[in-house]
Amino acid sequence: MISIVNLAKTYLDGDRLVEVLLGLSLEVSTGASLAVTGPSGSGKSTLLNIIAGLVQADAGSVEVELDGRRVALQTCTEQERTSFRRQNIGYVHQFFNLVPTLTAWENVALPGVLNKKSAVRDRAIALLAEFGLEDRAEAFPDVLSGGEQQRVAVARAMIIEPAVVLADEPTGNLDQENTDAVTRLLFDCCDQFSTTLIVATHSEAVATLADARLDLGMTKLGVSGD
Ligand SMILES: Nc1ncnc2c1ncn2[C@@H]1O[C@H](COP(=O)(O)OP(=O)(O)OP(=O)(O)O)[C@@H](O)[C@H]1O
Ligand SMILES: [Mg+2]
Repeated sequence: MISIVNLAKTYLDGDRLVEVLLGLSLEVSTGASLAVTGPSGSGKSTLLNIIAGLVQADAGSVEVELDGRRVALQTCTEQERTSFRRQNIGYVHQFFNLVPTLTAWENVALPGVLNKKSAVRDRAIALLAEFGLEDRAEAFPDVLSGGEQQRVAVARAMIIEPAVVLADEPTGNLDQENTDAVTRLLFDCCDQFSTTLIVATHSEAVATLADARLDLGMTKLGVSGD
């Protein structure tokens, strides 16, 4: 379960204050999926980054319940948040964020290595095979197509079988065929591991697959300054 209460974030952009989320509250049950929609700049990435502990909110709370234990992110130290993220969160970044000097399988294995898991190479290669990329395991990101890179990014998010997957526009840069393939892999994988999935998306097709939807466009953005 993820519980968010009265969340708000303000960025300083030059001399302008940009307020996003504006007191957002929501709950996502364990194993459920939520699509976060809304126009560019409405705060989708900000929300995912706060849940991942990568960005700190200015107000409100985020609690994640894991095996009956509640973690209140705002009371954690930076080190605790990093450790929480490594152990429990799979993150699919808006622009893949693959490490260019690592091969496909090494990219997928990386979160497992950071978590000191055993047999990560075998697990990474098995995941790549599940994702139809068995022939690309030794390839570096610069020779992979956009769809292949995005599948590697999803596989990397799944390697630790995380309690929560946060996917930031995982199909934003893909054609229809790759959008369908990546979406199916993401939702199937989360079903398989009873993972809680929060996916930011501009795609109606992706949003309708989720159990629930949060439209950040419905809450007006606050901008002030001159
Ligand atoms: N580090 C930052 N410094 C200043 N402003 C920021 C920062 N990060 C985000 N913002 C601003 O906050 C607002 C929300 O950004 P965010 O990236 O969360 O939107 P988004 O909904 O993910 O947009 P997109 O659909 O384009 O990915 C935007 O106006 C953005 O310019
Ligand atoms: Mg974004």
